[in-house]
Amino acid sequence: MDYKELIQAARKAKTHSHSPYSKFRVGAAVMTKSGKIYTGCNIENSSYSLTVCAERTALFKAVSEGEKKFLAMVISTDVNDFISPCGACRQVISDLAGDINVILTNGVGKTKIMKMKDLLPHPFTPKNLK
Ligand code: THU
Repeated sequence: MDYKELIQAARKAKTHSHSPYSKFRVGAAVMTKSGKIYTGCNIENSSYSLTVCAERTALFKAVSEGEKKFLAMVISTDVNDFISPCGACRQVISDLAGDINVILTNGVGKTKIMKMKDLLPHPFTPKNLK
């Protein structure tokens, strides 16, 4: 699959990043199985630990609109390294979206496609609560 549109959406979402403390802009875009796109950016807080990452913003927006099935997520930053989701976001993505493709992009437009299962092997899952 060509993730061009999803990459564009993540890049655009990055422009809304509220990151006055770290100056580290992140954008994310998640695609549902029906092809809808939801975007998010990182939103920092003067009480630093209340910061929310771009990945969780995007996914929470989608879930709060009733979405349950996801295909892929793109993460966009300004740096040359391929930035992958933090530990907290890995748990949230794995829990809500399962083993989706996570497309990491770097500042010069290269992409690396990873599976959630490889980013978070042996996750804690909703099944563990049954
Ligand atoms: N951040 C994200 O939004 N996603 C990531 O995958 C890594 C980190 C944000 C949190 C904080 O606003 C800034 O990047 C620096 O950690």
